[in-house]
Amino acid sequence: MIGRRKFLRESALGASALLLARPASLATAALSSGPDTRIEILPGEVLGTISPNIYGHFLEHIGGVIYDGVWVGENSKILNVGGIRKDLIDEMCKIKAPVVRYPGGCFADSYDWRDGVGPAEKRPRRTNFWNNEDETSGAPANHHFESNQFGTDEFMRFCKAVGCQPYLAANVRSLPAEDFYRWVEYCNSPAGSTSLAEQRAASGSPQPYDVRYWGVGNESWGCGGNFTAQEYAVEFRRYTTWVPEYGHPLSFVASGPNSDNWQWTQGFFEEIARKDKDLFSSIFGWALHYYSWNLSRGRTQNWDDAKGDAIKFDVQDWYEVLREGNRLESLIEGHWQAMHEFDSEHQVKLVVDEWGAWYRPGSELTPGNFLEQVPTLRDAVFSAMALDTFNRHPEKVTLASPAQLVNCLNSLYLAHEDKFCITPIGHVFGMYSAHQAGDAVRAIISAPSIHYLRDNKPASFCGMAGSASMRGKDLTLTVVNPSVSETRETEILLRGASLRSAKSTTLSNSDLHARNTFDQRNAVTPESKDLQAAGKVITIQIAPASVTKLDLTLM
Ligand code: AHR
Repeated sequence: MIGRRKFLRESALGASALLLARPASLATAALSSGPDTRIEILPGEVLGTISPNIYGHFLEHIGGVIYDGVWVGENSKILNVGGIRKDLIDEMCKIKAPVVRYPGGCFADSYDWRDGVGPAEKRPRRTNFWNNEDETSGAPANHHFESNQFGTDEFMRFCKAVGCQPYLAANVRSLPAEDFYRWVEYCNSPAGSTSLAEQRAASGSPQPYDVRYWGVGNESWGCGGNFTAQEYAVEFRRYTTWVPEYGHPLSFVASGPNSDNWQWTQGFFEEIARKDKDLFSSIFGWALHYYSWNLSRGRTQNWDDAKGDAIKFDVQDWYEVLREGNRLESLIEGHWQAMHEFDSEHQVKLVVDEWGAWYRPGSELTPGNFLEQVPTLRDAVFSAMALDTFNRHPEKVTLASPAQLVNCLNSLYLAHEDKFCITPIGHVFGMYSAHQAGDAVRAIISAPSIHYLRDNKPASFCGMAGSASMRGKDLTLTVVNPSVSETRETEILLRGASLRSAKSTTLSNSDLHARNTFDQRNAVTPESKDLQAAGKVITIQIAPASVTKLDLTLM
């Protein structure tokens, strides 16, 4: 992929999971009868409130995401609400989707928002940013040439139907700052106040959309302009100075680092501070992008060669994806520390608005859909680990969204014409929505490490990971058992509280490659059951290769 090929680099830091303790004494416990794993929950130790927005989503005009995935058109035979796929709206309501980023991605820095407003039949057709990718051959014309039938107003209608907040990404590479202000004016100026407000009204929305979240460029180190960190900081200052607010403060998200590009974080923060440290108070978020793509186990950094297959993989590749995913924690901690050097009060929070596993082409359910891949149980475990990581850092991460919502990379849904299915990742988001706006509390997990052969050499991986949160008397504990073979008998111990009731919901399958498709929509679905609960301790069996949620009610 343009830009990313150049900029991806391997982290020097290894994975770390702060809350995982793996005492040697427990490593052998699996051999004895009784629990080999213990989770100690400390409801009194609150880490911070989990921002609902870390359960956000991302839509880009790329491949089959918008055309087919979201937009089917008003005259379509496919069930739709004003042209928007109804199944998608219904599912997103169920998972309480809080925020959606749009229209890119790299596409955003090639997009003129004016092309996507006004009467649909008068909108221009443009060359899509992704037009040149070889892999798009075989795709329908509207994947190569943007028809602009889905634009700002349609996106706002989508957000309204879903009940989520819009998060718009502005073009910094190829449009002047004035166009950004005009987009803000189009979206937010009061009814009847400006010509653009009247244009909006003519499209059916007299009242402003009140868009709060604005991304200022995307991957400005690469496809978003190939800037240096210092150059981008200058542009960021210019684009965000005196943007009209209409009584609602705007939350600007700056284009942050790719993976472990610490220099990008240092360079930007240093340049902002050099001019005026007070400016940090006007930056809402610093957007980290992290894809787990390199499954070569250190053999190569080549963007094409290092990728693995989405559905054909062995045990080594199962763990390799999870290892790559586990780097997220050290990236969050590392960039947070780098930000602190200049923004000592941590006014700027982290936004992880592109994350996910990225495999090579070949698994698409709809041939020709650029970057579509079919998520398996492995991606559910991977995604659950990422969400648990965000939950454990509530003071740092304020918004996150996997790439992307439908028909692209780490998707929650796959859709084509009248066919639709929820991927295992979509089910994880459904299970984890219980954490939204909860108080993250400390959970100490002690589990035997997983041992396996990596390139014929002994390797290990953490035995269990998870997070816990409280809402009043309701405690949500989510845990992942990454082992491909070991059931973990797990003792869950509550400190300073007793249980009234308990329910478990588990997503798993005996086949590591299990996945949902249009023909087999329910191969991987969560199963719930009530558990016997009394006192402070509960013991459960946690299946291998599983994601489990416990809904615990305390006395
Ligand atoms: O998600 C696909 C692409 O990956 C996005 O457009 C870009 O921001 C990233 O490199």
